[in-house]
Amino acid sequence: MIKEKILAAYEEMAEKYSELIEHKPHNAYYDRPNTLDLLPGVEGKSILDAACGPGKYAEILLAGGAELTGFDISQKMIELAQHRNKNKGSFFVHDLSMPFNMLMDDSFDIVLCALALHYVEDWTMTISEFHRVLKRDGILVISIEHPFFEYSFFKSEKYFEVENVKCTWNGFGNPVEVNSFRRPLQECLLPLTNNGFYIDKLVEPRPTKEFEHLDPKHFRELNAFPAFMCIRAVKRA
Ligand SMILES: C[S@@+](CC[C@H](N)C(=O)[O-])C[C@H]1O[C@@H](n2cnc3c(N)ncnc32)[C@H](O)[C@@H]1O
Repeated sequence: MIKEKILAAYEEMAEKYSELIEHKPHNAYYDRPNTLDLLPGVEGKSILDAACGPGKYAEILLAGGAELTGFDISQKMIELAQHRNKNKGSFFVHDLSMPFNMLMDDSFDIVLCALALHYVEDWTMTISEFHRVLKRDGILVISIEHPFFEYSFFKSEKYFEVENVKCTWNGFGNPVEVNSFRRPLQECLLPLTNNGFYIDKLVEPRPTKEFEHLDPKHFRELNAFPAFMCIRAVKRA
């Protein structure tokens, strides 16, 4: 099954991923600054970091005074998140595409889900669960692969479909085949607006200056065409 393949890929990459994303340009100088920019002040806020990976976002948010809960499908990622955050925050293994039964209704000010929703085929349940666990006026911030980038990168000929796609990642140790699901733009937005959110801001991010020093080729490419998209959505009353 595709989910098992995605899990196996992340279990294999977990340690290298954790080490390298500190300064890997696409994470440190493209996704994180643009996604964090969409968050309100986090001091004293309860935040759910869904698909938290090795806890780098969690570390930043905990340092900003947030109360943090994180989950990920990968046990190794959760161990790395716990290690990075040294008993701060609460982390557990859970699958984004299953109901969050362990989490109470109306219990978080903010839900963050960075670079992970493209591993879920049907977003309806996941977005409904984000909505359920958020407090009134709670904020959901997501970053995803840009649907137009995926369409051309994967040479799709079926824009309107949600398709299983895969590619080999060479940047985190041994080459690893990573499966995901590409989808059209409307399938990124409708699950939000159909499940109790309004879209407050949508950003097609630009890489920061630090990116240029580390990887000038991709810096130029990302300034010509976006690879990611960041969205802030607000829970409707
Ligand atoms: C690209 S990483 C992003 C990690 C983290 N959000 C960050 O930006 O640093 C994707 C993460 O999604 C997790 N993941 C993939 N499928 C998942 C699922 N169905 N449920 C929960 N986590 C999942 C992977 O284990 C991995 O840690």
